[in-house]
Amino acid sequence: MGAKRGGGARLQGRRALITGAGSGIGAAVAAMFARHGAAVAGADRDAEAAAQTAGTIAAGGGRAVPITADVSVRREAEACVDGAVAALGGLDIVVNSAGVTPRYAPSDWDYERIWDWVMAVNLKGTYLVSRRAVQAMTGGGAIVNLSSIYGLVGRPMFFGTGDDPYPAGKAGVIGLTRDMANGFGARGIRVNALCPAFVLTPLTRTLTGDPAWRARMEAMQPLGRLGTAEEVAYAALFLASDEASFITGAALPVDGGYTSV
Ligand SMILES: NC(=O)c1ccc[n+]([C@@H]2O[C@H](COP(=O)([O-])OP(=O)(O)OC[C@H]3O[C@@H](n4cnc5c(N)ncnc54)[C@H](O)[C@@H]3O)[C@@H](O)[C@H]2O)c1
Repeated sequence: MGAKRGGGARLQGRRALITGAGSGIGAAVAAMFARHGAAVAGADRDAEAAAQTAGTIAAGGGRAVPITADVSVRREAEACVDGAVAALGGLDIVVNSAGVTPRYAPSDWDYERIWDWVMAVNLKGTYLVSRRAVQAMTGGGAIVNLSSIYGLVGRPMFFGTGDDPYPAGKAGVIGLTRDMANGFGARGIRVNALCPAFVLTPLTRTLTGDPAWRARMEAMQPLGRLGTAEEVAYAALFLASDEASFITGAALPVDGGYTSV
């Protein structure tokens, strides 16, 4: 990608696929990228949610198309990328935000099924989408993967688990990010990861909805509060833009200081 920095339209002319765009961080990224001039394909397994994000962007004068896809299924992940390329006329940016937590697994699933589900969405889905996307990024590009602080550091013991696939998957996302950064740098494709701490989205609602848990989570972040989806989206905007043109293979905490304690 050519050097084009700053200004109010930092992604002007860029074509971006955002997975998990129906909710939380992915929805905030899609809206922010569109505000900064990108044409956006917003993918989600929840068709209604994807359509709502695209509709909101279009109503605000932005360019967005919805895509329905389960990124953990190879055929759907590839069709998702191909659909974005067809709708946008190419692809410059991917943000992999589709993700799940074991907290929302159906209660009758055993630990192996939960492991497979979390790994399939959070790690394999990121891999499948990115692997297909780099084939389409003929003029260079930028991929931003949603990892987590729990890809960087261990979880506190009060979480009460020692068998949770979430941290393993998020650490895997960082490994994948580095390997893809190394492998595709020569083609002008940058690959970075974001590592948010606790952000107020539907994903964390079961925890943040409980005042005692919420207070505990806030206390772990030196800024003394939870993050917002928009604050994570700003970091994605930076990494996706040419302002980050010499940054690749990085795992950037967006954590209110969580990992500095
Ligand atoms: N919220 C946080 O505190 C936090 C912290 C660190 C990392 N993250 C990561 O950020 C990403 C976004 O999280 P969020 O808080 O916005 O969550 P969210 O639940 O608000 O949104 C996730 C979206 O992903 C979609 N999705 C789930 N499985 C999918 C699949 N198989 N295929 C396609 N779409 C799928 C959901 O339908 C949903 O719209 C996730 O990867 C999450 O692990 C979140």
